[in-house]
Amino acid sequence: MHYPSYVFDAYGTLFDVHAAVRRHADQIGPDGQLLSDIWRAKQLEYSWVRTLMDAYADFWQLTEQALDFALRKVPSADKGLKTKLLEAYWRLDCYPEVPAVLKALKASGARLAILSNGSPEMLEAAVKSAALDQILDDIYSVDAVKRFKTDPSVYDMVTTSWRLYPGAVSFQSSNRWDVAGATKFGFRTVWINRANQPEEYRDFPPALILPSLEGLLTGG
Ligand code: LAC
Repeated sequence: MHYPSYVFDAYGTLFDVHAAVRRHADQIGPDGQLLSDIWRAKQLEYSWVRTLMDAYADFWQLTEQALDFALRKVPSADKGLKTKLLEAYWRLDCYPEVPAVLKALKASGARLAILSNGSPEMLEAAVKSAALDQILDDIYSVDAVKRFKTDPSVYDMVTTSWRLYPGAVSFQSSNRWDVAGATKFGFRTVWINRANQPEEYRDFPPALILPSLEGLLTGG
């Protein structure tokens, strides 16, 4: 079944957040994956804690603070790489199937957008660098509501702007917690389980689980 509109999470779903560390893997040494995992985990923790405290700071600041923590936590990693790692975040690789799937959905007449915690500047840079700017209709950043996912006001930006009921939107994310928030909001959700993670948040299940976005073109 095809949906009139598809909304995508950005980091982890379209863009590979671990590409930044991979790009400098030779200089980082054996603990690169650990550094990347801690960086990502802290970035997300800060987003949830700041939303609960009602103390928004944009995702770029959180990304920088999370990297500071990760570099201190992994002593083998060269702290001198900080600037290079942060720069890489502005032009992350997208997953290989992304351009073709988005183009095909667009060609079928669907409306396409990103809905992300990222700041507008970060998202614009990543979208341009992956050459997705001609395909996407809209880029929604949480910066407009100053709260991070899974606050309902984030998902509400799309339905308010597009004047659609949540059930008319198919929302894709590889972050299971984001899928839970979007399911609770009322979107039709697709969990892109790229890392083959176990199921969780069972009371807010996705309508569909796919290993990559490709399945959207066949059955999703
Ligand atoms: C985003 C985070 C969840 O792009 O990765 O919103």
